[in-house]
Amino acid sequence: MTAIGAPLDRADGRAKVMGAARYSAENAFPNLAYAALVLSDIPAGRVVSIDGTQAKGLSGVLAVYTHENAPRAKAEKKPDEMLWRNLAILQDAEVRYDRQPVALVVGETYEVAVDAASRVRVTYERADAATDFDHAETFLPPETGKGPEVKERGAADAAFANSPIRVDNVYTTPQEHHNPMEPHATVALWEGDSLTVYDATQGVFPARARLAYTFDITVSQVHVLSPFVGGGFGGKGSVWPHTVLAAMAARALRRPVKLTLERPEMFGSVGYRPITHQRVALGAERSGKLISTIHEVQSNTSAFDLFVEPSSTITRMLYAVPNLRYKQELARLNFGTPTFMRAPGESSGSFALESAMDELAYAVGIDPLQLRLLNYAEIDPDENIPYSSKSLRKCYAAAAERFGWSRRDPKPSSMRDADGLIGLGMATATYPTNRSAASAFVRVAADGSVLAAAGTQELGTGSYTVYAQVAADGLGVPVERVRFRLGDTTLPATPVSGGSQTAASVGPAVFAAARDARAKVIAFAISDADSPLYGAEPEQIAVAEGRLSLSAEPSKGESYADILKRHPASQVEGRADSAPDAEAKKLHAMHAFGAQFAEVRVDPDTGTIRVVRMVGAFASGRILNKKLANSQYIGGMTWAIGMALHEATRTDVRTGRVMNANLGEYLVPVNADVPRLEALIIDEEDLYVNPLGVKGIGEIGIVGGAAAIANAVFHATGKRVRDLPIQPEKLV
Ligand code: MOS
Repeated sequence: MTAIGAPLDRADGRAKVMGAARYSAENAFPNLAYAALVLSDIPAGRVVSIDGTQAKGLSGVLAVYTHENAPRAKAEKKPDEMLWRNLAILQDAEVRYDRQPVALVVGETYEVAVDAASRVRVTYERADAATDFDHAETFLPPETGKGPEVKERGAADAAFANSPIRVDNVYTTPQEHHNPMEPHATVALWEGDSLTVYDATQGVFPARARLAYTFDITVSQVHVLSPFVGGGFGGKGSVWPHTVLAAMAARALRRPVKLTLERPEMFGSVGYRPITHQRVALGAERSGKLISTIHEVQSNTSAFDLFVEPSSTITRMLYAVPNLRYKQELARLNFGTPTFMRAPGESSGSFALESAMDELAYAVGIDPLQLRLLNYAEIDPDENIPYSSKSLRKCYAAAAERFGWSRRDPKPSSMRDADGLIGLGMATATYPTNRSAASAFVRVAADGSVLAAAGTQELGTGSYTVYAQVAADGLGVPVERVRFRLGDTTLPATPVSGGSQTAASVGPAVFAAARDARAKVIAFAISDADSPLYGAEPEQIAVAEGRLSLSAEPSKGESYADILKRHPASQVEGRADSAPDAEAKKLHAMHAFGAQFAEVRVDPDTGTIRVVRMVGAFASGRILNKKLANSQYIGGMTWAIGMALHEATRTDVRTGRVMNANLGEYLVPVNADVPRLEALIIDEEDLYVNPLGVKGIGEIGIVGGAAAIANAVFHATGKRVRDLPIQPEKLV
C-alpha cells in the first residue's frame, strides 16, 4: 500500500477554490422557477385561512400552494426507517411548530418569490403549546434503534446507595443547530413521472427512497444527485420538507423549481440537537473504583415525531462497572423534530459522564486520568465481549505527554499567569465503528487511467480523495491516475454518510472492486499470447506503479495501458458489493477511542474563558489520509469548543420562536476562539472491523471535548458548571 494513508491534498480542492465545484443551489436550468416558503408564526394550532391574493397579484408569481391546493404526498414516515422524519408538507391545516411551512410561493425569479411570500396573509387559531422543556412531561419512548431505552445490569440503585463515595448531579445541554456553511438547497425537475433532484444531502440513496415513497413512485423513477455538500453534520441525513415541496411544485408547474433555505430557515424544519437533561450518579470505592453508574437522560422530541438523543450510549460501555442503569426519556415540545447532530448521543452524553468522572476524581482525591485508568474496561462491559482493538491507554499516554499533564497542580485556582487563572482538564472520547452495505465499480481505460465510482457523498470530508487512494492501492497504480465519481444514484448503492461509517463502508467496496478489476486484467494478460505474462499463474504476478510483472522476474511485465490496448473492450471494469458480517459484531465490540486535553485561561473578574490549547489523541484503526484525518479531528475539536462555550439555540417560551436564528446571535467559534489544536493519530491495526481496518473518524473528534474544557474551567476556578454553554456569567 502506498497511496492509503498518504497525507494527500484534496482531489477537489482546486475545483472548490476556483468555484468550479457545483453545489445543489448552483444548478441552473432553462425555465427554472424559484420557490420561497411561508412559515408559521405560531408554535401550535391550525391555519384558519390563507389569503394569497396580494401575492398572486405580483407579476411573475406562478403559484401559491397551501394545504388546500397542494398536491397530495405522504407526510408520515415508515416507522422503521431510522433516517426518515414525519414532515409538515402542506397536507393539513395543523401547525406543530413555529416556522413550519404553511405555504409555498413559486415565481419567475427568486426576488419575486420572496416578495410574494411576504405578502401571503395567514390567520391562525392558536392552541396551547409546549415550549418549555423544564416543565414538560416525560415519557419512555419505544425502542428507536440504539438499543433499549431502559436497561440495567446488576443492581445499580442499591449499589449506588451503598457506595462509600457518591457523586450525583444533573447536567444540561441546550438545543443546538447544525449551521453548515452550505444551507439546505434543492433543485427538482420532472420528466413525466420521473423525478430528478439536486439536493444538499448526506445520503442520495436514502433520499431517493424517501422521495419515491412520498410521491408514490418507484425508486427507479427518482434520480438524486449531490456531488458536493458544504457540510452536513447529521442535519442533511434526512429528507426535510423543502426537498419534498420543491419536487411537489416542480411537478405541478411542469417546470424545474429551486428552493434554497436562508439561514433563519435553517432553524425551523431541518432538525437540530435536542435539549438534554442528564442525571449521572457515580458510586465508587474510596480508591475510586466504580461500583455503580446511573445515567438518566431526558431529551426533547417534537409534537409529531420521535427522536431520541442517545446520550447514555457512551456510559453503557466506557468503564468497567458491575452495576449500571440507564434510561432514555422524551418530552414532547412544539418544536421541529430533532435529528442527528455530530456524534448524536456521544457528544452530549460525554459532557455529562466525563464531567461526572472529573467530579468523582475530586471526591476521591485522585488524578482524573488515574481515575480513568483505574476503571479501564478490558472487555466491553455492555456486551461482555472483547474489543476488536482498543488503544485507549496509548491515547491517554500520548496526549498527556504531549499536553504536559504532569505540570498540573490538581488544586482548583492554584495555577495562574498574566492572562488569568489556568485550567487543565481532560476527558475520554469514544465512538462506535459502524458499517453498512456498499457497492462500487472501478474501470481501467485503455490509456491506463482509472475511473472509480460509488454513489456516496462528499460532505467536505475528503471522499473524492480517499477513495481514489483506496482504488489506487487496490489496483496497484499511482493515485494520480485515478479519478473518483460520487453523489449520484445512478452509481453503485452506498449508505448515508452518517455515523462515521462512510470510509468503513465505501472503502472496502472500492478496494474490492479495484481488486476485481486487477484480477480481470491479470486473467486477460496471462491468457494473451502477445503478453510477456502469457502462461503465468495469477499468483505469480505482482502489480505496482501501474505495471504488472512476474514477482520472480520483475523485468518481465507490462503496464495496464499496454495490456488494455489489446483488450477487445479497450477497458476493464471491476465491481464489488461489500457488506458487514453480522456475526463479527457478536464476537467483538468495535469502537474508536481517544483522549482529549484542554487548557483554558479564565479572567477571574469577568469570567471570560479562552481555550488556549487542546491536544487530542485518537485511535481509529487504519487512517486513509493523514492530512484529511487531521482536518476531521480538529474540526470535531472545534465543535467541542463551540459546544462548551458558545452554541445554544434560544427559544422564547411564550411564542415558541427561536430568538437567535442567525449566525450573528447563534454563536459558533470563530478563528479568534480556536487556538492551536493538535490531533495525534495513534496507529492502530484492527483485523476485525472490516477488510480495510478502518474505524471512522468523523465524529469522535467532538466527543469528550466539551467535558475536557468544562473540567479545565473547574480546575481554573473551582466552579463546576453543569449547564452548557459555559458563559462568563455562570462563573461570576
Ligand atoms: Mo452524523 S450526526 O451521524 O451525520
